[in-house]
Amino acid sequence: MHVSYWAFLCGLFVNCVYGEEKTPRRSTAERIALTGHRSEEHYVTTDDGYVLTVFRIPGSRGPILLMHGILDTSDTWVLRGNNSLAITLANLGYDVWLGNCRGNFYSKDHVKLNATADAKAYWNFSFHESGLYDLPATIDLVLKETGVEKLNTIGHSQGTTIFFVMGSLRPEYNDKINVLLALAPIAHLQNVPPPLSSIIKVAPALEAVLSEAKQYYLLGDSPSGKAARSICNNPLYGYPVCAYGVAFPVVGTDAEEYPPAIHYEAFNYYPDNVAVKSLYHFAQVSLRKQFAQYDNGALENLKIYGSVSPPKYDLSKVKMPVALLCGANDKLSTLDDVALLRAALPNVIQYTVLNWKRANHLDLVWGKTMEKYLFPDILKILARYKNLRK
Ligand SMILES: *[C@@H]1O[C@H](CO)[C@@H](O)[C@H](O)[C@H]1NC(C)=O
Ligand SMILES: *[C@@H]1O[C@H](CO)[C@@H](O)[C@H](O)[C@H]1NC(C)=O
Ligand SMILES: *[C@@H]1O[C@H](CO)[C@@H](O)[C@H](O)[C@H]1NC(C)=O
Repeated sequence: MHVSYWAFLCGLFVNCVYGEEKTPRRSTAERIALTGHRSEEHYVTTDDGYVLTVFRIPGSRGPILLMHGILDTSDTWVLRGNNSLAITLANLGYDVWLGNCRGNFYSKDHVKLNATADAKAYWNFSFHESGLYDLPATIDLVLKETGVEKLNTIGHSQGTTIFFVMGSLRPEYNDKINVLLALAPIAHLQNVPPPLSSIIKVAPALEAVLSEAKQYYLLGDSPSGKAARSICNNPLYGYPVCAYGVAFPVVGTDAEEYPPAIHYEAFNYYPDNVAVKSLYHFAQVSLRKQFAQYDNGALENLKIYGSVSPPKYDLSKVKMPVALLCGANDKLSTLDDVALLRAALPNVIQYTVLNWKRANHLDLVWGKTMEKYLFPDILKILARYKNLRK
């Protein structure tokens, strides 16, 4: 494996033992306030008891819901202050809603389970449950509060996967989506290059070790998360180690769009909590070369699904209009994998490779000048898909 990964893992271990965090976290609401906008905080409980926080920047134009990716939170959409996507939309008068999936910093409550004391049951989820429960609950909240019949939506990375899960398993929700702008969409992971492909190969062994050690989630507020932020925020080596050593090999290299200033801002909160099951489910999707439900092993699959193999997500049922926006230098959402997705979805209204040839997986949320190569496409599509209030 990549040598910097071992250096990073050793660093994680040392920092787990000796490290501490210094920078206080700045919340989504605080970041919105700094741009001069007013925000609201809404809560919604999913059918299986997770309590989610949804931020809103009220506006007079139709509502638009933004869903973050893996290891991420609603902070991602406001990280770049006045130049962020959420604030740009708010400045144009859109009614902006920022969702948070179960388990993250803003959505860690549950009506019965305690994420620490009942860790095994609490963290027993992947992107599957976020698509099946979190997203529908969030959409219903926005529709109820705003009184529109359909809403516009934007997802980044796993924030697109959950729409594909929802659209295939709860097809009635396709009718509630005016349009989905899928930024760096993820569904197949069959063409992921090394070093990530090498890590995915050892994922079954890693999962077994973590399960044996009763580690059901990683990063975020766990010791490994505090250690990661302590390393990545080090003013001397944080950027070279975490950007060049860890992030760029996985998401694609683009130092110009991800300079130290943005790196240190991001690691104010990133990486957030992630369920081991969610990581392992993605690894299964890649290893089994199938966008399918979680593989529990043949016997358990028989009990849960009535079949030896887990059922595939039927993408032909995802009837919502989808715009696919991707970066040519994205090593996670590769153009080859997006091609598979594009062929499987029945209602792709636009396919755009961004006009910035080094665009990687993160540039679509944090890119330094994304207002040039991303926002114009987004605004054009939104202008075509108006969702007016009643
Ligand atoms: C962001 O915009 C608001 C409103 O125009 C302004 O008050 C604020 O100073 C701006 N922030 C920065 C960092 O430029
Ligand atoms: C959850 O459990 C932990 C440890 O068992 C405890 O410290 C914490 O207060 C509990 N949280 C709630 C909200 O009850
Ligand atoms: C985890 O969820 C699955 C269904 O998705 C269920 O079969 C299993 O019993 C659950 N395990 C725990 C520990 O809650």
